[in-house]
Amino acid sequence: MSTYHTTVLLKETIDNLQVKKGRLYVDATLGGGGHSFEILNRGGRVLGLDADQEALDFVKKELRIRNQELRIEERSLILAKGNFKDIDNIAREENIQSVAGAVFDLGVSSHQLESAERGFTFMQDGPLDMRMDRDLSVKAEGLVNILHKSELAELFEKYGEEPFARRIADAIISARKVKAIQTTAELVEIVKRVVPRRNSDINPATKVFQALRIAINDELGSLKDALPKYLELLEPGGRLCIISFHSLEDRIIKQQFNQWAAEGEGIVITKKPIIPTDEELERNRRARSSKLRVFEKK
Ligand SMILES: C[S@@+](CC[C@H](N)C(=O)[O-])C[C@H]1O[C@@H](n2cnc3c(N)ncnc32)[C@H](O)[C@@H]1O
Repeated sequence: MSTYHTTVLLKETIDNLQVKKGRLYVDATLGGGGHSFEILNRGGRVLGLDADQEALDFVKKELRIRNQELRIEERSLILAKGNFKDIDNIAREENIQSVAGAVFDLGVSSHQLESAERGFTFMQDGPLDMRMDRDLSVKAEGLVNILHKSELAELFEKYGEEPFARRIADAIISARKVKAIQTTAELVEIVKRVVPRRNSDINPATKVFQALRIAINDELGSLKDALPKYLELLEPGGRLCIISFHSLEDRIIKQQFNQWAAEGEGIVITKKPIIPTDEELERNRRARSSKLRVFEKK
């Protein structure tokens, strides 16, 4: 286990993937490589993708360290930087026609969250950035300082399910008349001023940060675009294992799996999503909201 990220639902996910020796699997969200290394451990090969170059650099280093123990053959782990929705182009470039399965572990890694300079966290002060892929042109600062009041409110409602969306949008507009909002701490202060404290454990800016992150990285759009491409790439009997962390993502996955089942594309393996054991929850608080859904192609 790395300090980069504590992998969630590791055994449950890789057991469900039913790894076969020598076969190729996509890890669409490489992060610290937790799922990838377990696939390699069980004799599979991996195409690992991440939008964030830091994840790829970390896994390359980790591979050198673990290689002796895993005795990974050349091309057992292929790494590519990119958005997982571009799997069709990535597979073509890598000369891959089909895969035996794919894993998604959505959202951000602990490493990204804990790096103040990436701007994902309300726990530390940093620039309002929030891009997973640093080649993207728009940062959270851009949205916060440019969108109209109604657009901000809609964004917080739609992607954050924030009940005080309008009030927060008002406060942002007033604050930025005085000075552009540039840091995570400035945004947290603005939100705190207008949102009543709901629960001592939860920062009042949680939903606003979630909404901005989803918008900047087009997280829901990427997921919707990606799913049909992975179904297409899967070999018959291949499985898609997807871990999500909030209801907006989970709804997309559940609906897409049900639609495929109705169209005769395969079967939904998880009638109810798999959730972490109490033991995992005790070890890793971040696993709290995780849900694993699995689909098997006919
Ligand atoms: C929760 S972490 C994955 C952790 C990994 N399973 C592990 O065990 O270390 C999610 C990773 O997916 C990446 N990511 C999220 N959305 C992506 C997308 N649309 N395309 C490519 N990578 C994405 C993030 O940059 C992050 O590194």
